[in-house]
Amino acid sequence: MSDAGGSGHAEFAEGSHRSRTIVRGEGARWWDADGRAYVDLGASHGVGNLGASHPEVAAAVAEQARTLLYLGTGYANPVRDEFLRALLRLLPSSFGRVFLSNSGTESVEAAIKIARSVTGQPKVVAAMRGFHGRTLGALSATWRKELRAPFEPLVPEFVHVPFNDDAALEAAVDERTALVLLEPVQGEGGVHVATPDYLRTARAAADRTGALLGFDEVQTGIGRTGRMFAFEHWGVVPDLLTLAKSLAGGVPIGATVTTPEVEARFQGSHHSTFGGNPLACAAGIAALRVAVRDRLPERAERLGQLAQERLAGLPADRVREVRGLGLLLGVELRERVAPVLAALEDRGFLALPAGATVLRLLPPLVISDADWEAGLTAVREVVGGG
Ligand SMILES: Cc1ncc(COP(=O)(O)O)c(C=O)c1O
Repeated sequence: MSDAGGSGHAEFAEGSHRSRTIVRGEGARWWDADGRAYVDLGASHGVGNLGASHPEVAAAVAEQARTLLYLGTGYANPVRDEFLRALLRLLPSSFGRVFLSNSGTESVEAAIKIARSVTGQPKVVAAMRGFHGRTLGALSATWRKELRAPFEPLVPEFVHVPFNDDAALEAAVDERTALVLLEPVQGEGGVHVATPDYLRTARAAADRTGALLGFDEVQTGIGRTGRMFAFEHWGVVPDLLTLAKSLAGGVPIGATVTTPEVEARFQGSHHSTFGGNPLACAAGIAALRVAVRDRLPERAERLGQLAQERLAGLPADRVREVRGLGLLLGVELRERVAPVLAALEDRGFLALPAGATVLRLLPPLVISDADWEAGLTAVREVVGGG
């Protein structure tokens, strides 16, 4: 809990860049209250794939706010319909149903409820180091002990297996399993990419037992990893796909995508008052249009490859490994990341941690080549690569 500017208003918050007050943004540039410019290398954990205040998203929001700011889901709405069509056009044809909400954790909550309802089974198999959100269901799928412990007991029947261990996953998934829930690239947990066979193994295990397979692409979706959705790298299609963060270009949104077959088996009800509101949907239409038209996945792939080249050969006594996919990169250090982040900040670059020793780079996909090169040079300098 922190006090906002001594005003007496208290805020529950956790933040790594509270030393700066950011008041304005454009593309991958931010400005603080004193007018100092920064390059954003964190995209607010993946919200800002299109950069700050993308003009087409801002225009769509302004226009929609004047037209119809809110509409309950009990009424049809052409903006919502258009957004759903635009999203489903980008996905394999097996999908066809979307539950809209307002955040990543809600998209995961919906996936858990859908899987339990559809299979009639209780168990959820997730991965160690995985992060799926902080409401009680999503938190139960999240791995980190310090996030979980203060709120226990959590939801029962959640088990965690080591990520990228095929045999452990196969052994854990059984007839009592409702959902196998994985991030194709673990973001918060330190930037770990699924091995080529791991997601196939997960698909086979779910098919063998009747469980549903869910991919959490809240952080990896919308071009981040070099494909519109990370699962495309593996060619493995899940039954449930969770999206949020940059899906509406910075406006809060969550989406749980599934198939008509799954929907047909769903019993009970699930609902969100603000889910599918026209404001978020108008922003989402603009965001997806920009991501496709401006080929942001290709840009992420190219700039990610550039980073792998520039960050190769960092001194082994300070850097254990550089890994990632597209523009979701982790530099695992042999030291704590906090001083590295502070040194980058002093040079005008705002990056993120992923755990205590991993420097995470996930800039807006629209970052200019020059700013990205400058950011990578700063990383090299700060971790001793010259
Ligand atoms: C993979 C993944 N799932 C879920 C979430 C939770 O999203 P939100 O913070 O929008 O609730 C996050 C947030 O970082 C995430 O990275």
